[in-house]
Amino acid sequence: MQNEIMKLIDNLKEKLNHTNSLEDVENLRVEFLGKNGLLTKMMPLIKTLPNEEKPQFGKWINDAKEIMESMIYHAKNDILEKELEVKLNKEKIDVTIPGYQFRQGSIHPLSLIIESLEDFFLGQGYLVAEGPEVELDKYNFEMMNIAEGHPAREMHDSFYIDQNRLLRTHTSPVQARFMEKSNGKPIAIISPGKTYRRDPDDQTHSHQFMQCEGLVIGENIHVGHLKETLLSLAKYLFGEDKEIRLRPSYFPFTEPSFEVDVLFTKKDKSQTWIEILGSGMVHPEVLRMGGYNPEKVSGFAFGIGIERIAMLKYGVDDIRNFYTNDLRFLKQFKGE
Ligand code: DAH
Repeated sequence: MQNEIMKLIDNLKEKLNHTNSLEDVENLRVEFLGKNGLLTKMMPLIKTLPNEEKPQFGKWINDAKEIMESMIYHAKNDILEKELEVKLNKEKIDVTIPGYQFRQGSIHPLSLIIESLEDFFLGQGYLVAEGPEVELDKYNFEMMNIAEGHPAREMHDSFYIDQNRLLRTHTSPVQARFMEKSNGKPIAIISPGKTYRRDPDDQTHSHQFMQCEGLVIGENIHVGHLKETLLSLAKYLFGEDKEIRLRPSYFPFTEPSFEVDVLFTKKDKSQTWIEILGSGMVHPEVLRMGGYNPEKVSGFAFGIGIERIAMLKYGVDDIRNFYTNDLRFLKQFKGE
């Protein structure tokens, strides 16, 4: 009896060796283990055996069933694996084919300067404030102490929208807007942004340009604070070895007013002072109009020309480069 069972197993093994489809394997399963399968059909024989042989026979049958089920399971798996291998071979990816070349953008040099100004001033506790580019005459001029008919308006010839609105000629109106909503509280802000003047474009002028305004108001703010702030800014932008000089100047919204120069060393080792920004102590009238009491608080302000800083820092000799979108120019600025 055992022999016959063994033969069945061998028989199945032999047949499985010659199958290569899941369907064939399934047919073999039915042939051997199905309801009328060869092994199943042997089971009733147990009844014909003497009692003492029955357990042994039952065990042979069960063992054989287990072995045959496992053989079928493995045969199916082998076939699935082979099919997968064939599929994978067919769909092989050639990793040596070069990928698409995506052109990588770069950060605009003016944005780089603004970002580094923000880094510098945010680190010192300043806030970044914003104001509209279409500005009211009231903020652009009046509240900056440039009343109608003031000669300083001549230098700020602008693009007027109507009688009261114009494209802002500087970022200074953000000072007035911020004072107005601060209700007499201390202020430390910078405000970078676009500005416009009706200048003909040339190597150093652009009808659209950028500034970064600065304003600090509090008790006992004096010129020393202004100078220290701008000295550390000059070192931050242009190198630790830099020195600055405050030159008396005139702005309607500051008193006293200064132009700030930085001492640069030229290639031939000679030194030269180059103007980088305008600044001063906030004019008492400007404080008063912004809702501050000039008897109690004081402040300093400055206005930085972003293009000027970028030209000095990156050695750019024509301001129009910043606005003409020439990729050969822009590609050179990758950021820090
Ligand atoms: N608004 C001035 C300009 O555009 C620049 C300026 C100078 C701003 C001195 C200031 C300042 O805040 O104190 O020419």
